[in-house]
Amino acid sequence: MAGKIIRTIGVLTSGGDAPGMNAAIRSVVRTALGKGLKVRGIRRGYQGLLNEEIIDLSARDVSETIQRGGTILQTARCEEMRTEEGQQKAAAICKKYGIDGLVVIGGDGSFAGAQRLANYGVNTIGIPGTIDLDIACTEYTIGFDTAVNTAMEAIDKIRDTSTSHERCSIIEVMGRDAGYLALWCGIANGAERILMPEEHDYDEDAIIADIQESRKRGKKNYIIINAEGIGDSVNMAKRIEEATGMETRATIIGYMQRGGSPSCKDRVYASIMGAMAVDLLLEGKSNRVVGYKHGEYVDFDIDEAITMKKAIPEYQYEIAKQLAL
Ligand code: F6P
Repeated sequence: MAGKIIRTIGVLTSGGDAPGMNAAIRSVVRTALGKGLKVRGIRRGYQGLLNEEIIDLSARDVSETIQRGGTILQTARCEEMRTEEGQQKAAAICKKYGIDGLVVIGGDGSFAGAQRLANYGVNTIGIPGTIDLDIACTEYTIGFDTAVNTAMEAIDKIRDTSTSHERCSIIEVMGRDAGYLALWCGIANGAERILMPEEHDYDEDAIIADIQESRKRGKKNYIIINAEGIGDSVNMAKRIEEATGMETRATIIGYMQRGGSPSCKDRVYASIMGAMAVDLLLEGKSNRVVGYKHGEYVDFDIDEAITMKKAIPEYQYEIAKQLAL
């Protein structure tokens, strides 16, 4: 149905929330209204679509939202949308509410839903919104900057007390199966070690030997950033304390990383990506995802986007290790 005339645009947020999602919603709403379209907000992601939780949105409905964390539309993970019946039902509901174009703000899983809806004739555009930075077709995902700064500030605080007590601190950051939050915090916080799922065969004995060695060199603390994809931080702390004799504490930063007022970067990227999603729909495009690559905002085929794999930049990881002398 690509090329059909778009009169009404729907917008939803799906999967884990991320700071900046509201800025993206606001941009979709105001761009679409400014171009003479009607906008419908879908609450609670695909689950809300299946439950027909659909509201009209005006420019005033998104006032004072650009600075707010979370998502004003709420979000959910939806098992039903993984089934063919669910997808057909969702497409039929879009049709019933006159939604010719749908903007989906979320991660890879959310894009898979958008791809299915496109197959059933709803023009869809995805906007990458996740703190994990794990979408291969784009160098940036909305929410990462705010989340990584939240984690960095928390780790700075943990470092203070860790130094006072001459402890080893294992700090677990989010990221699901990706290590970007861990890598960035590792560099920004000057960690001694970064453990990421992409390098899952880390050597605990080598870490223990390094802690003992670093004590001899006069280091007052030892910071390990552990990615959620490795996990096991509490047990790891017990094992390290036992083997080294150095008091070791684990801190799991957790959901704090998903909240808070979005950074300038997240607000700006979200605003531009939101407007671009509407423009792509108006150009008759569908089954695309907005991205940022080589300094430019671009769009990719969703089919291609969800099959691409993202690797941790080896050179950056090597630098992080070098700086931990
Ligand atoms: O994808 C964002 C994220 O916060 C991941 O880092 C984490 O693994 C996951 O969501 C947690 O999801 P939930 O909110 O379902 O517990």
